[in-house]
Amino acid sequence: MSEDPLVIFTPSGKRARVPAGTTVLAAARRMGVDLDSVCGGRGICSKCQVSPQFGQHSKHGVTVRDDALSGWNAVEARYDEKRGLKPGRRLGCQAQICGDVVLDVPPESQVHRQVIRKAATAREIRMDPATRLYFVEVDEPDMHEPSGDLERLNRALKAQWNIGPVEAPLPLLRKLQPILRKGAFRVTVAVHQAHRGPARLIDIWPGLYESGLYGLAIDLGSTTIAAHLCDLDTGAVLASAGLMNPQIRFGEDLMSRVSYSMMNPGGDLEMTKAVREAMDQLAADIAAEAGIAPAAIVEAVIVCNPVMHHLLLGIDPVELGQAPFALSTSDAVECAAAELDLTRLNPAARAYLLPCIAGHVGADAAAVALSEEPGKQDELSLIVDVGTNAEILLGDRNGVLACSSPTGPAFEGAQISSGQRAANGAIDAVRIDPETKDVRFRVIGSDLWSDDPAFDFEVTGICGSGIIEALAEMRSAGIIDASGLIGSAEQVGTDRLRADNRTHQFVLYETPDRTISVTQGDVRAIQLAKSALYAGARLLMDERGVDKVDRVVLAGAFGAHISPKHAMILGMIPDVPLDKVTSAGNAAGTGARIALLNRAARAEIEQTVRRIHKVETAIEPRFQEHFVAANALPHAVDPFPELRKIAPLPDVSFNTGGEDGRQRRRRRKG
Ligand code: FES
Repeated sequence: MSEDPLVIFTPSGKRARVPAGTTVLAAARRMGVDLDSVCGGRGICSKCQVSPQFGQHSKHGVTVRDDALSGWNAVEARYDEKRGLKPGRRLGCQAQICGDVVLDVPPESQVHRQVIRKAATAREIRMDPATRLYFVEVDEPDMHEPSGDLERLNRALKAQWNIGPVEAPLPLLRKLQPILRKGAFRVTVAVHQAHRGPARLIDIWPGLYESGLYGLAIDLGSTTIAAHLCDLDTGAVLASAGLMNPQIRFGEDLMSRVSYSMMNPGGDLEMTKAVREAMDQLAADIAAEAGIAPAAIVEAVIVCNPVMHHLLLGIDPVELGQAPFALSTSDAVECAAAELDLTRLNPAARAYLLPCIAGHVGADAAAVALSEEPGKQDELSLIVDVGTNAEILLGDRNGVLACSSPTGPAFEGAQISSGQRAANGAIDAVRIDPETKDVRFRVIGSDLWSDDPAFDFEVTGICGSGIIEALAEMRSAGIIDASGLIGSAEQVGTDRLRADNRTHQFVLYETPDRTISVTQGDVRAIQLAKSALYAGARLLMDERGVDKVDRVVLAGAFGAHISPKHAMILGMIPDVPLDKVTSAGNAAGTGARIALLNRAARAEIEQTVRRIHKVETAIEPRFQEHFVAANALPHAVDPFPELRKIAPLPDVSFNTGGEDGRQRRRRRKG
């Protein structure tokens, strides 16, 4: 008796013998090969396409004859005629295996296809979304065997897909009967099966529904709300959009919003309403941009800091404004999107908020941990997400620590005399000639440097990355000293320096109606912000018992634009070789996308967060010590040997006993 045919699937390389006459789809299922199917093998969804590879395959030791699969059948012919099959493709649910065969599963036929991330680490996301489509044939009601339509739908889901039973919310129960009858009891259902909790019916369509399911990955920040619309089948990002967080009118930073809630009865509810309306509008806008119906959005994954988290959920954040900074819950929250007033989404859409790490370290930091995976690396990584608050993670395989540090909004251009948000016209890069002290700069919206004869752009201010570069260049050119004091025109030798009360300011750009300069107050604001950031990082390093880290990752939108060298000249981050400083872009947003597309990632981050060791900067006495030492540029004590190799800093001092100097002497004596 001859042997059963040998089947080899590529690219997985899985091989096994199956009885002749087995369909390709059945063989794939038996062998654990990732071959998609929405219609369950009825020949109508075309998700199960494969490409037979005929001829000799020395690598696999087989020769595939032309009759290795059964002939083109009527179902395939009908599908090809109506919808068209790519040349060389077969429907896996129709083609039967007759002889040894090599079958390629194209990416679009893989259930758990990999989505390439653009991030530097370029890991892939394995598609395994919580909400999927299933085509089912439901038994018709029968007088002799009384049962409800939902019970029969559940029976069909169990028998045909081995899932369920599903719970159906009231709006779906209302449409269940008419749609079952409209589809002659052949329907497509969207079922949400998270990593925990019951399976839920999200929507139902008559016949085969092919318009796709979508999800939103939302990074809800104190200043901006950014969303990516993802296809839950392919993982592709179809559109991205953002808008300002309307809560800004209640307070620029987190603590002022908590205070608003404390001082104004019902203030928390006002802020809840504002952010929910904005998110709902954002969902509608992004759906319109991608040309899909908002009701096709069936899931939203949201990452945010603890105050935003509480306000979105309608929880008064008052406890987060005072020690011991207790969260209402630090666990992940899974609920109906409608409970968050996201009414434009599918009425049964689900929302998932990642877990918070601690009272000051939120779901956004958890998302960064999910995206960057410090706990899976051999190298000790310091990850800083710079915003109004810096959230800092330090870790490797031996454990991860986290804290948050109150940097304030100076890094975002606020509290800076010529500061502005990163928008067209804002200076975002600065170079100063160390000899002549000449300045050239670049603004957002133009690729040209300001000394290019073709440069012709309205310069409106300086943004966060611009002020960091300006200060670092001023330090390198000997315009400010290690204590942060700006020198005078005589001391430095440039008329760009102007007296400004008892201090000095350095002019970057001047026209008859606009002067953009760096004042002593600007330097102090950045010194405070960077000291808080560095002190937070040092505190985690103390806790870990190390003096240096292997690599630094700058996350967040600001982190994406910051120049590592300039950040290090200012001593914002610990000293490491420059090539060990990388940008992770919007890592929190990427973490949200991972959690949206892969439900195992949700279980994983919930576990990971429990193991992260939290350090509370507010009650740690060493924080103050580190803060004071970090005030110098780059640092009063830490030697920064790697920085010195690439950027020798002039040893200047402008402390001539003026106002600023007198204060400093008094403090030293005291
Ligand atoms: S499984 Fe749907 S067409 Fe083959």
